[in-house]
Amino acid sequence: PQFTVTRNPAPASPQRRAQVLADPGFGRHMTDHMVTIRYTEGTGWHDPQVVPYGPLTLDPSSMVLHYGQEIFEGLKAYRQPDGSVALFRPEQNARRFAGSARRLAMAELPEELFLASLAELLSVDSEWVPAAGGEDSLYLRPFMIATEVGLGVRPSSEYLYAVLASPAGPYFSGGVQPMDVWLETEYTRAALGGTGTAKCGGNYAASLLPQSVGAQHDCAQVAYLDAEERTWIDEMGSNNLFFVFTGPDGAVELATPDLRGAVLSGITRDSLITVARDLGIGVVERRIAGQEWLGGVASGVLTEVFGCGTAAVITPIGTVKHTGGEVTVGDGKPGPVTLQLREALTAIQRGAAPDRHGWMHTM
Ligand code: PLP
Ligand code: COI
Repeated sequence: PQFTVTRNPAPASPQRRAQVLADPGFGRHMTDHMVTIRYTEGTGWHDPQVVPYGPLTLDPSSMVLHYGQEIFEGLKAYRQPDGSVALFRPEQNARRFAGSARRLAMAELPEELFLASLAELLSVDSEWVPAAGGEDSLYLRPFMIATEVGLGVRPSSEYLYAVLASPAGPYFSGGVQPMDVWLETEYTRAALGGTGTAKCGGNYAASLLPQSVGAQHDCAQVAYLDAEERTWIDEMGSNNLFFVFTGPDGAVELATPDLRGAVLSGITRDSLITVARDLGIGVVERRIAGQEWLGGVASGVLTEVFGCGTAAVITPIGTVKHTGGEVTVGDGKPGPVTLQLREALTAIQRGAAPDRHGWMHTM
């Protein structure tokens, strides 16, 4: 497809950009441009464009505003030591985005067009990709909304796909700090047959109330149990979960909840399973009860717990709190397996370790 490029007539000055890149935070600053592509039933995908970043004009009866047909993705572009820019496993995001579209009865964006849209935006806004060597990256946010006008409840016949880019700093300013997690036993995130495997805005809207309950207990994230039995750990509001079990002989095994149909299939999760096995660490995907978390800490077999996702890659979990009390894993500090896996994966992403699995997609 031929993208039309309209340059921003008033881009950020080099000084302003340097100021943003010096301390980007997460999701606070957008680059000068964005991608938009339209879909119309009968015509298909049309008018791919790179345009100046700016407000969208929406009819108030656009379907997304009423029935919530919205999906998104999140992935990072990293500056490589040779100055090139590489995306981490973008084809996985393309595939997951198509799967999310199917679940929300939205038009599926062809995976090649998804990848082309990222390449177009990166080529125009390449100066916004932070310097090589650290954890800084350019976070890309593809999303799609239903734009047909009307109040009938049915799949929209028109969609707007867009991509934003936002420089992202190291998620942890003072080094990797463990977070506390709220184990939620009343609210659930997703049920079998629902939208848990899709990355749709509605899932996050539903997570905000339990998230604020967790925040009242000074917890940064919420861990959810399965909706059917309130027994099995699914994942957190925006991270998958890993548990490190250590046997009496010191042997280490990594366990993560299996993808049982209500869990988001994290690309970091999938990558860590591979990285761990490359390092000779055994990994099992299985059901893990909430009680196993609490009991494993008490008995000492559960030695580390961490969350993983694109934004922070790996976040160690210190204390898990619940209505009945709280327990702290190990000494509450990031564990050795957590740090080893984090270093191994981030080294591949920043181009400091060989890319044995062909994960880095140079633009
Ligand atoms: N689970 C949820 C609910 C998420 O929002 C995310 C973040 O994107 C993840 C897991 C981790 O997925 P990924 O590793 O693909 O970023
Ligand atoms: C992640 O990338 O880990 C996320 O949680 C994405 C989030 C901003 C929705």
